[in-house]
Amino acid sequence: MEQQLKELQTEALAKVESAEDLKQLNDIRVAYLGKKGPITEVLKGMGKLSPEERPKMGALANEVRAAVSSAIETKQAELEQKAIEEQLAKETVDVTLPGRQVEMGNAHPLTKVIEEIEDLFIAMGYSIAEGPEVETDYYNFEALNLPKGHPARDMQDSFYITEELLLRTHTSPVQARTMEKYKGQGPVKIICPGKVYRRDNDDATHSHQFTQIEGLVVDENISMSDLKGTLEVFAKKLFGEDREIRLRPSFFPFTEPSVEVDVSCMCKGEGCRICKHTGWIEVLGAGMVHPNVLEMAGFDSKKYTGFAFGMGPDRIAMLKYGIDDIRHFYTDDVRFLRQFAEHE
Ligand code: DAH
Repeated sequence: MEQQLKELQTEALAKVESAEDLKQLNDIRVAYLGKKGPITEVLKGMGKLSPEERPKMGALANEVRAAVSSAIETKQAELEQKAIEEQLAKETVDVTLPGRQVEMGNAHPLTKVIEEIEDLFIAMGYSIAEGPEVETDYYNFEALNLPKGHPARDMQDSFYITEELLLRTHTSPVQARTMEKYKGQGPVKIICPGKVYRRDNDDATHSHQFTQIEGLVVDENISMSDLKGTLEVFAKKLFGEDREIRLRPSFFPFTEPSVEVDVSCMCKGEGCRICKHTGWIEVLGAGMVHPNVLEMAGFDSKKYTGFAFGMGPDRIAMLKYGIDDIRHFYTDDVRFLRQFAEHE
């Protein structure tokens, strides 16, 4: 039995020594030291031994166990250390490798133009208002002096969701919504940028979704000359100090009188393709807020007057950057968008 135990010890130690990883080592632990292991098996034969020999064999078995177990512990520490070193070696960062370039995005040209226009008006004391893109028939039309059945509704082909809900066809409903919030108390001085929708067939100059910026000023003694002065400052700041504006009579149901506003072309009247040889480019619609619109939103039209305007950043961006097709703004072709990056 003594011989058997010694052989077991030699065999176990050799296996421990040759274990290559923690899993193998653990298997060896279970095999030799477990309850069903060979040492226990050998000790079952103790009954056949003389009473003097039994304690000796018990002590020897314990020695064998202790030797194997301590060898396993030593080996375990060794293997753990090895595993850590291997992992560290694997995860080493080679700081001399060239870096991978991070893809940088850039602002959309429409966003840039809208932000530029916002900054101009904020500098003149305006604040920014917003309204929903899914709008009620009331705010989109009725509150703007366009009752149901009004022929001018046909000027804006609409996407109706229900009979009373539609995708807003312009940012003008925000005029009515904002005035209601002010509860008849001026001054109101806001611009409202946002997306609008019309049932147009898309082509180089039409898109079923585009952007507008609405402007509204309501106070006592606001006159047409305030409108003209404001738009002149705006046009010179946006297009250049040498530009002029001109007002042409027009019609909008929500303003009276109404005007169409042109900016002089950069060809300085010589005539070019952009201004179609007229020397002028139409950039927005405007006018004095119709008394009906003021009254419906809770303002006393005998005390208050106001002006409003609506412009299209798409068109302005096309003029500013020389873009010949509005669809470029909405097709998300990065080759187009990249041309407006400032950081390359
Ligand atoms: N809402 C008009 C449109 O989409 C633009 C407009 C014209 C807005 C005159 C105004 C305005 O506020 O006074 O065609």
